[in-house]
Amino acid sequence: MKNMKLTIPDIIAKKGTEKISMLTAYDVSFARLLESQGVDMILVGDSLGMVVLGYESTVPVTMDEMIHHCKAVRRGSSCFVVGDMPFLSYQVDIKEAITHAGRFIKEAGCDAVKLEGGLEVCDTVHAIVEAGIPVMGHIGLTPQTASQLGGYKVQGKDVESARKMLKDAQALDEAGVFAIVLECIPDALAKSITASISVPTIGIGAGSDCDGQVLVTHDLLGMFDKFVPSFVKKYAELAPQMKEAIAAFVSEVKTGNFPDEAHSFSMKIDVEKLMDTESN
Ligand code: KIV
Repeated sequence: MKNMKLTIPDIIAKKGTEKISMLTAYDVSFARLLESQGVDMILVGDSLGMVVLGYESTVPVTMDEMIHHCKAVRRGSSCFVVGDMPFLSYQVDIKEAITHAGRFIKEAGCDAVKLEGGLEVCDTVHAIVEAGIPVMGHIGLTPQTASQLGGYKVQGKDVESARKMLKDAQALDEAGVFAIVLECIPDALAKSITASISVPTIGIGAGSDCDGQVLVTHDLLGMFDKFVPSFVKKYAELAPQMKEAIAAFVSEVKTGNFPDEAHSFSMKIDVEKLMDTESN
């Protein structure tokens, strides 16, 4: 089910007509799997930090780590790939932000970058877009600054923060983003943000009225059980099956049942006899 790679106008045109699917990948095997099932966009999220690299949060993830994994995803897929700009790669100054965004496109072959924040990042977003690099926004629960938001919890629940989020979304739209991720916000707020901007919203824990949905693939497959948010739907529980397979391997190696004849190579020459002759 290989799709044609989407363009920015294709993605924007889906708003209000066809829901958009996005999933995360960090390596070639997952990129191939996602593409084979017709996902619209692959996000190389900085969730890489927790899911693959074993960090406690997304904060320590570096540019080089992101580029390394984006390259692997690109090798595995020809679909639309979004690279997530890591913490402090776009906040320090605008020139540096353009340079870092450019690495995702030139070195890693991504089609777009994603960065977190509202009004405060709009000048940066505008400059990156003006440089010719498509940008996806991300508001609501923004994991890179989760501690400032009081931790991993639902955002925009009171009038003031809901109003601010609406303004952030409209400002990002004006700054030139082609889509906005809405993370962990009430569904009614997501619905009104979706109705008030010209580009698609991609929800994660933001209800069904968004223009698209994104999940962390390892969560959806039930492979990552350290911390799974309540908005995640597990479409499979692979961790127990994976553990069972690994345990069976360990046990068969110990008992000598693996490898058996079917998983070994035979030869016609009698090696033992040959060794005897050689040594005499
Ligand atoms: O890093 C990530 O995977 C993300 C998604 C959760 C949207 O930003």
